[in-house]
Amino acid sequence: MSELYSITEKIISNGKGILAADESTGTMTKRLETVNVKSTAENRLLFRETLLSSESMKDCIGGVILYDETIKQTTFNKKTIPELIESSGAVPGIKVDTGAKVLANSKDEKITEGLDGLRERLKEYYKLGARFTKWRAVYVISEKFPSKLAIHTNAQALARYAALVQESGMVPIVEPEVLMDGKHKAEDCLEKTSEVLKKCYDELILNKVDLKGTILKPNMILPGSASNQKLEAKKIAELTLKCLKESVPTEVPGIAFLSGGQTEKEAAKNLNEINKLNNTNFIMTYSYGRALQQSALKFWSKDINNINGTQKMFDHRAKMCSLAAQGKWTEEIENK
Ligand code: G3H
Repeated sequence: MSELYSITEKIISNGKGILAADESTGTMTKRLETVNVKSTAENRLLFRETLLSSESMKDCIGGVILYDETIKQTTFNKKTIPELIESSGAVPGIKVDTGAKVLANSKDEKITEGLDGLRERLKEYYKLGARFTKWRAVYVISEKFPSKLAIHTNAQALARYAALVQESGMVPIVEPEVLMDGKHKAEDCLEKTSEVLKKCYDELILNKVDLKGTILKPNMILPGSASNQKLEAKKIAELTLKCLKESVPTEVPGIAFLSGGQTEKEAAKNLNEINKLNNTNFIMTYSYGRALQQSALKFWSKDINNINGTQKMFDHRAKMCSLAAQGKWTEEIENK
């Protein structure tokens, strides 16, 4: 188990966080199509290789979550992608769920699948260089949802996944994402997220998962994206800390938030505020997809051969997130 603890530490300590570059081919295709780039395996690799060769990988990124296609790809310099990630001192990781599917008997909700054959797939990913993994459950908020059924079934799947991952010598990232979509208030998000997290930890403990060798990847406590409630970053940080303090066992070493549709700046500002107020023992950092990649992707799409320019955009975002993970981010540095 001590090996798991050192992997965890390497990923989230010293102002480092996680680059979530694990978009499935379908999701990546949508992202590329919105910026008018053809979604070929070469283009997906070129964009990802550009980010993974950036300067900020050394100081700001402790781990990278990959998708099945990417972990098996080789760079233009004939390194495997996990080798490229390791060369900057970061840890290669892999998304191992197979996606969120309609939940039987609650068709407006989702259950994440991927447990069948997982033990064998984990062995293969370990051989390819992965040392941590991700599994994402999603929950919607409305008057009726998330239902007890969605909360229970997803918690069971997350716990069975985490137990198998630790058995295979890797660190599981446990990601129960309560979605931002909807008109709900932040107070509803707090209540529902707390319920979801508590159930996840009941199941993780039942499945004898060693919490010290895990990382939680939750949503922040935010108003729904269609709500008219506007909250200051300080209030978001207070609600988020209240939720995590009450729902997450203290053995968990670190919390790496998802960005979940926040803008790049909001994701940095809110994380910064959380760290300024952090009165817990948890390391609070980032595991951002869109909030680390959006402006780099936009820039890259204008000239996919402008590697340096794209890396500068990414380096700025990574630096902002890393400062936020230490409570040292400011508007002034952001806008420089
Ligand atoms: O599972 C979600 C991704 O890993 C994080 O993506 O930061 O764009 O929400 P996001």
